[in-house]
Amino acid sequence: MTPPPVLRHQFDAVIVGAGGAGLMAALEASKRCRVAVVSKLYPTRSHTGTAQGGIGAALGNLEPDRWEWHMFDTVKGGDYLCDQDAVEVMCQEAIEVVYELEHMGLPFNRTAEGTIDQRRFGGHTTEFGKAPIRRACYAADRTGHMILQTLYQQCIKQGVVFFDEFRLLDVLIHEGRCSGIVAWCLATGELHLFHAKAVLLATGGFGRMYKVTSNAHTLTGDGCAIVFRRGVPLEDMEFFQFHPTGIYKLGILITEGARGEGGILRNDRGERFMERYAPTLLDLAPRDMVSRAIYREIRAGRGIQGRDYVHLDLTHLEAGLVERKLPDIADFVRTYLGLDPVRELIPVQPTAHYAMGGIPTDAQAQVLDAHQAPVRGLYAAGECACVSVHGANRLGTNSLVDIVVFGRRGGRHIAQYIPQADLPPLPPEATRRAQEELDRLTTPRGGEAIARLRDELQEIMMRHVSVYREEAGLKEALAGIATLRSRYRAVEVQDRSRRFNTELEEALELGYLLDLAWVTTAAALARTESRGAHSREDHPARDDAGWLRHSLAVATGETVGLTYKPVTITRFQPQERKY
Ligand code: FUM
Repeated sequence: MTPPPVLRHQFDAVIVGAGGAGLMAALEASKRCRVAVVSKLYPTRSHTGTAQGGIGAALGNLEPDRWEWHMFDTVKGGDYLCDQDAVEVMCQEAIEVVYELEHMGLPFNRTAEGTIDQRRFGGHTTEFGKAPIRRACYAADRTGHMILQTLYQQCIKQGVVFFDEFRLLDVLIHEGRCSGIVAWCLATGELHLFHAKAVLLATGGFGRMYKVTSNAHTLTGDGCAIVFRRGVPLEDMEFFQFHPTGIYKLGILITEGARGEGGILRNDRGERFMERYAPTLLDLAPRDMVSRAIYREIRAGRGIQGRDYVHLDLTHLEAGLVERKLPDIADFVRTYLGLDPVRELIPVQPTAHYAMGGIPTDAQAQVLDAHQAPVRGLYAAGECACVSVHGANRLGTNSLVDIVVFGRRGGRHIAQYIPQADLPPLPPEATRRAQEELDRLTTPRGGEAIARLRDELQEIMMRHVSVYREEAGLKEALAGIATLRSRYRAVEVQDRSRRFNTELEEALELGYLLDLAWVTTAAALARTESRGAHSREDHPARDDAGWLRHSLAVATGETVGLTYKPVTITRFQPQERKY
């Protein structure tokens, strides 16, 4: 490929990613500085748009609630690996951010009195665990979609400059400071160098490393992998959440809100099997527990017709409720399964859903280096970040809370930082690495096609690094990923064109997924305990004495180097986790 021209831009701040975290950050930062948003998608196609069931906030509109109860549920749901100072901030600020979104025009469902309606969700309880509580504020089953539309409109109104369908290729970090990014314009093939005082990454998760996932094709961990390659550690990567109710084989999400509205999980005998596993919260236990329960039913031969799925039953719900409060999932079930969820049972299986780990940050969304010091001018928020509010297992609704609370905090910090910061110099040959990567992938070598490698990766991760894990399987996975990584070095992109080269895009994304799968598996192998979503069959107990600590992964040659740091515990001491 002939080297494309490099176009230069200068902004105060560049936000990468146009989901809820990126847009919230852009909105806040743009109140005081010139902000660009760079997104590989058209912004309203960002993955926040697929978040269905609700955003948790202790508004107490239907029954008494307190942010302390929300905090307790989050910490217990996270199996005590959450940093409690950050959780406290999140649960307090959730309330004001939800009202802020309402005032921006977000069309929440309403109670008869006209206040924001709230529904039940997994792991959210009243009075420190007594019974399920209505805490999830929702807009039918399109809550994320509405957040995205609302924030995008506000950003346009505010004059944020959007670079749509621009793919991040590099984050420029030099001598402990970030000075911008390199991006690739998909429509023209040109490289663009964005020089800025601050960069905030809001590039989302990486569920596409698994075969069955609720994640869009675009969730390939670009931001996480790129900064990892630049020496930034990744935190708690062994914790990857499987949502219990993905459409069988397809993985498409059926919101937990369906169980929040009264849906019940049933095995082949028609039993409400969650009675055995979580007698108090039943189907609304946290996701890690429900996903394990489904696997245990399947292993005991009680999957539907002995197969690897169970049923979600909505048939007993009040007439009209499904159409009124769960219209999108009704549509998905009709479209993808040809079933009517009002009269028929829905086949579901756990689906790879959410990365609890990611780029370590503080509560202002500043990225932390291997010594826990902020990388000047570099921020991260949302699923790509790990401010450690989700610990070992995220509660439903808390991803939307996380993106708006910490997106807003990051944006506010940037707005304060910009006026007193100078523009850092760009590193020498700022676009060289990005150009070299494109050249390498498009150089004819007779190598393999991308799709086969990606399929093999997804199979390995699904088989060995999913809901249940054990040493032999994790070692096999690590060896398999090492082979895939070396085969990837010889991969060849057939399409040499400059414009909309989607094959080259997929090749880049596969490289990111391979790196992140490598880190996830290595961290999972090292953690010899079971905690939250990391369930080791060979180490079934939680081990607070040995493992109440966060992992930090860096690349050391061809191995993943792991160090650990303490968990911040303020109000809630670790307890046995019963529901
Ligand atoms: O089930 C859901 O609606 C998903 C929500 C979430 O992941 O928080």
